[in-house]
Amino acid sequence: MSNPSLLILPGDGIGPEVMAEVRKVIDWFGTRGLTFDVSEDLVGGAAYDAHGTPLTDATMAKAQEVDAVLLGAVGGPKYDVLDFSVKPERGLLRLRKEMDLYANLRPAQCFDALADFSSLKKDVVAGLDIMIVRELTSGIYFGEPRGIIEEGNERVGINTQRYTESEIDRVARSAFELAMRRNKKLCSMEKANVMESGVLWREVVTEVGKDYPEVALSHMYADAGAMQLCRWPKQFDVIVTDNLFGDLLSDAAAMLTGSLGMLPSASLGAPMANGRPKALYEPVHGSAPDIAGQGKANPIACILSFAMALRYSFDQGDEATRVEKAVEKVLADGVRTADLLGEEGVTPVSTSEMGDAIVKALGASV
Ligand code: NAD
Ligand code: IPM
Ligand code: MN
Repeated sequence: MSNPSLLILPGDGIGPEVMAEVRKVIDWFGTRGLTFDVSEDLVGGAAYDAHGTPLTDATMAKAQEVDAVLLGAVGGPKYDVLDFSVKPERGLLRLRKEMDLYANLRPAQCFDALADFSSLKKDVVAGLDIMIVRELTSGIYFGEPRGIIEEGNERVGINTQRYTESEIDRVARSAFELAMRRNKKLCSMEKANVMESGVLWREVVTEVGKDYPEVALSHMYADAGAMQLCRWPKQFDVIVTDNLFGDLLSDAAAMLTGSLGMLPSASLGAPMANGRPKALYEPVHGSAPDIAGQGKANPIACILSFAMALRYSFDQGDEATRVEKAVEKVLADGVRTADLLGEEGVTPVSTSEMGDAIVKALGASV
């Protein structure tokens, strides 16, 4: 049987820096006989610089063929002046849309060693383990009409929130399935009080819920949900929400764990011929231009994204847990990149030193 295939798209800013650390983890698995056919390509600003587009058709085709894609981050100030159609972020959005990766799983887990470090009180975040399921291929990110038009003597910026029943149904099913494997609690967030798309969202999620009678389903307006995430996040198990609310809520949830540099994600689509979902894995954070090129980036979100690939694409749940435990061990040992520094007198390690420490902990786990 051929090795599982993985397409790596490091992207921009800290993307290549954190991806270099994931490579060390992949190489470590290679020494243990778990080998991946890894190919690497350009996305985002890096692809724009080389080809004048943030994602070439050839890279898009490759992404459709492999078992999983792993992406670093895209974007940066250098590209802010570009026309919207060729901005780095469009490359990522094209991957999500054309691979039809409708369910974006964003787990927020607070490691014990970081419970003191969160900007929230320790008892609010200690032991936190929630999963945000963000709809990723529709909603206001993709709805038509969109654009900037002239109207009278001024311009108007337009985006459209739009959801079909089937789009809501399929992401709701993903969330219920996850809830069944976790604590059987699902909270759906929208703004049914002001948006028709929210009314439909609530109706469809409620209907899908009839197929999952064991799951306790609740609904919350997304603004109240944001408040509850900060007030007492442990009330949640799985949260399902739309594309834009999910973007905001998951960045907020990141701070419950201590740093945006901790949050991984899996973007999953419909099953392929081999029964596994089409999949792209990426950290929740961006290209962090403020720290790029300085060896300061925390590679944990990207390494944990690879762990999610082990679990969801490569049927290696035990090895995924091994990576997560290695991260836990390193944090428990007090190893900290600069974003995780709170304690007095602790010197931060570099991106590369954090990667090395995680590989060492992996080595000690066998
Ligand atoms: P960002 O996530 O890049 O950075 C926000 C803050 O978090 C910064 O202070 C940064 O230094 C810090 N941070 C992020 N990741 C970190 C890590 N791994 N280790 C340590 N600190 C980390 O968000 P932004 O500044 O709003 O956006 C910068 C660029 O990234 C923009 O072009 C944006 O569009 C893009 N972006 C891309 C993605 C993606 O590729 N998936 C996600 C978000 C933002
Ligand atoms: C994310 C990012 C992206 C989004 C951007 C870079 C397109 O913020 O993955 O959270 O808005 O979805
Ligand atoms: Mn985001």
